[in-house]
Amino acid sequence: MGARPNFMKIAPILRAIEKFNTDPQTEHHRLDPCLVHTGQHYDFEMSRIFFKDLDLPEPDVHLGIGSGMHGEQTGRVMIEFEKVLVAEKPDLVIVVGDVNSTLACTLASVKLNIPVAHVEAGLRSFDRTMPEEINRVVTDVLSTYLFTPSPDADENLKREGIQEERIFRVGNVMVDSLIASKQKALKSSILNNLGLAENGHASAHSLGNRSYALLTLHRPSNVDDQESFLKILKALQVISKEVPILFPMHPRSKKQLETFGLRHCFQPLYPPLKVGNAGIYSLAPLGYLHFLRLMMSATFVVTDSGGIQEEATALGVPCLTIRSITERPITVNEGSNTLVGNNTERIIEEASNILNGRGKKGVIPDLWDGKTAERIMSILGEMAIK
Ligand code: UD1
Repeated sequence: MGARPNFMKIAPILRAIEKFNTDPQTEHHRLDPCLVHTGQHYDFEMSRIFFKDLDLPEPDVHLGIGSGMHGEQTGRVMIEFEKVLVAEKPDLVIVVGDVNSTLACTLASVKLNIPVAHVEAGLRSFDRTMPEEINRVVTDVLSTYLFTPSPDADENLKREGIQEERIFRVGNVMVDSLIASKQKALKSSILNNLGLAENGHASAHSLGNRSYALLTLHRPSNVDDQESFLKILKALQVISKEVPILFPMHPRSKKQLETFGLRHCFQPLYPPLKVGNAGIYSLAPLGYLHFLRLMMSATFVVTDSGGIQEEATALGVPCLTIRSITERPITVNEGSNTLVGNNTERIIEEASNILNGRGKKGVIPDLWDGKTAERIMSILGEMAIK
């Protein structure tokens, strides 16, 4: 694991390994997991806080890679991860998601003939300008076990010529963490801290004029491109007159806002300052439980993240995705997600539909049931026993 969206995928897998290891039936096949953090993300709010929120153990190895251009970051992970592989000699490497660390660890492993299992395989945006798409395509073609979250992912892999025996539809591992953490998230102090809770309680759509929209924005195509950023911002400014928008800001977006001189468009929100009726409020990036709590009670979510489209679907919270395509079409076809691109008018129109009670609730896709990691482990466990 290396970056923020990896942690909630790894936590349930580690728990499933633990369960396998304490099962009397598998007594002679104990697994010895070695948890490696590449250090692609390193700020407290981008990494450390997730360990506490998700009950993740300390990594066995921390590579301390940090930021850099794609080649540099990927290359550094490969060099350092290869040393771990040589020392540990694992039988299998498990990677999750589509970040640079996913690709780098896969490449380093297969070059040493160590098989790779990719969790969240088969997702395709068909847009190779997205760094994640390159990471997904290469990781999948090199992996031995492909664990997919949805039927579209199976189809994508088959179309690319991947043998069916390597493809296992197991569901969405992120939803395992979400289901396991909901009760804990309810205890989060975030709504109180932000002045959003009434008597400490809040539920979706029930806050009257204290309802809010939750925003995340960090994709290079949206925030590194000034024209695109301005189009999105224009829509957000209109929407924020109707409903306050909370924006936990990714470091990339923060940097870009400063570069473009747009900092003044966002109001800082530090306790005891409370959310008023209008405005876009910037917050530091949030930990898993605080963010989940905010999602659970948001009137709607606006995002360009991959994982948040899925989490909103799992929670039945309407989601507007600031992208013209998604590698997660099931969130649109079955879930609560609507693609709005960076088109100012379309973003405003869809937000107003939601505010007028016409938001999409969707249904929860098959196998997004909190048991994905167990299914992965029962397949890998069988292989280990063989
Ligand atoms: C990465 C993933 C993206 C994922 C996102 C979630 C790749 C190619 N992209 O993008 O798929 O959605 O993580 O956050 O792997 N920075 C900090 N502190 C940190 C980490 C990053 O300040 O802890 C800053 C640095 O200036 C860095 C920039 O953010 O240069 C971008 O970080 P990077 O890991 O390169 O990509 P993300 O945009 O975070």
